[in-house]
Amino acid sequence: MSRARQLYDWADTRLDVESAQNFLGKAFPAEDSFLLGEVALFCFLLLVLSGVFLGFFFEPSTSDVAYDGSVQEYQGEEMPEAFVSVLHITYDVPFGMFIRRLHHWAAHLFVASIGLHMLRVFFTGSYRNPREPNWVVGTGLAALSMGAAYTGYALPFDEFAATATGIGYNLTVSVPLLGDFLGQVVFGGEFPSSATIPRLYFLHVLVIPSAIAVGLAVHMAILIRQKHTEAPREGDVETATETVDQEDDSVIVGLPAFPNQAAVSAVVFFLTAATLSSLAGFLPVHNIAEYGPNDPAGTPSLIMPDWFLMWVYGFLKLLPQWASFTVGPVHVSGEFIGGIVLPGLVFAAVAAWPFVDRVPEPTHFTADPLERPRQTAVGVAAVAFIMIASIAGMNNILAEQVLGTTTSVVNPWLSAALLGVPLLYGAITYYLLRDGGADTPPESLPTGTSQGGESDD
Ligand code: HEM
Repeated sequence: MSRARQLYDWADTRLDVESAQNFLGKAFPAEDSFLLGEVALFCFLLLVLSGVFLGFFFEPSTSDVAYDGSVQEYQGEEMPEAFVSVLHITYDVPFGMFIRRLHHWAAHLFVASIGLHMLRVFFTGSYRNPREPNWVVGTGLAALSMGAAYTGYALPFDEFAATATGIGYNLTVSVPLLGDFLGQVVFGGEFPSSATIPRLYFLHVLVIPSAIAVGLAVHMAILIRQKHTEAPREGDVETATETVDQEDDSVIVGLPAFPNQAAVSAVVFFLTAATLSSLAGFLPVHNIAEYGPNDPAGTPSLIMPDWFLMWVYGFLKLLPQWASFTVGPVHVSGEFIGGIVLPGLVFAAVAAWPFVDRVPEPTHFTADPLERPRQTAVGVAAVAFIMIASIAGMNNILAEQVLGTTTSVVNPWLSAALLGVPLLYGAITYYLLRDGGADTPPESLPTGTSQGGESDD
């Protein structure tokens, strides 16, 4: 018996390599849009790696220290240590600026790819029975990813980020009855207190990434257990071992996990890393030297959250004053409704959707969005709703710089658009697709000529 065989047998008796091989033969449907989830996965990996690098140099403290680094204008100035350490990373640590930018762009691509992945799952009906649990876990991951980005945004403790973080503090303390307690837990008391940055740092580097890692593990475990959905087949498919009936959705046709899908995933990883490296190399991020350290007495003229939180900011800006009310000892503020209740309802509606669009039988083929007028209309309306809310978040730019007027003039229009445009877009979509897209040709089958593989149970 050869040495290699002996080694294999040794490992097999201990680790059951044989069944791992079955796993490696698992089929992955060869659908390009299925790679969006992988892009999100690789962004998370790159975020963790670049975050570890930044963690070696970042100081989560707001105590003042004298600056001694490459930025001339701050030389010798007493400034918060967190701010000083980020200046240090950016201008003095070798590769510091590159890694900081990479971390920043990876965070943006992470949220963007999650959003696109979610839309792909939605429009192809891949959330239907039996995949509802994974949709719900995914909704949690989307919320956590925004939380991770938000807490990271605050860390440099510069003027701009600190002001935007202050908005988060005001929202947190606006929660009736529990507000002060939550403000203590998340922000370490009235913002900005000396405990705020350590608290947000703890959430950003440990609590939220751990929760995302656990959520991802559950997401992947469910995916492996249930297997992917697959696009409908044009006919029976000949694989290396058998003929798979066109209608038989108990067997998945696609690329074997190893080596084919692993090679595709490696390409996706390197493309993701290359895209982020190019962005980090050429596009600057949040220039903290320009904003300066947090100054409790000053307010920067233009405060804006990141694009993926702009819709929440839009709710805050559109909510009328009279939306606040008091019942006995409980005050319900407009901030609470716009910044917490409405976004909470949006996430709850997203999580609940598979239970609204219920199918009694397990469904393993993806749907054609053109053949689902109701669901596609709801999806189009939802995207329009988030877009208009995001535009409302930039109402000052729209009013002052684009239309040359004031926000009080554009706000009523934006409020009407927030309700009207989604309804209109949804109705148009439904009207265009209402005959079930009968004329639409079926999707061509990408796996027809690929190596077949089938699920292992
Ligand atoms: C950290 C964020 C996320 C990561 C890294 C991630 C990753 C993945 C990956 C790699 C897959 C398999 C390939 C694919 O279908 O794209 C997948 C499938 C799936 N994801 Fe996610 N996902 C995330 C968030 C979400 C969100 C926000 C939702 C929906 C609310 C969601 C719902 C699903 C569902 C239902 C499937 C099964 C789809 C099918 O079998 O066709 N995921 N996810």
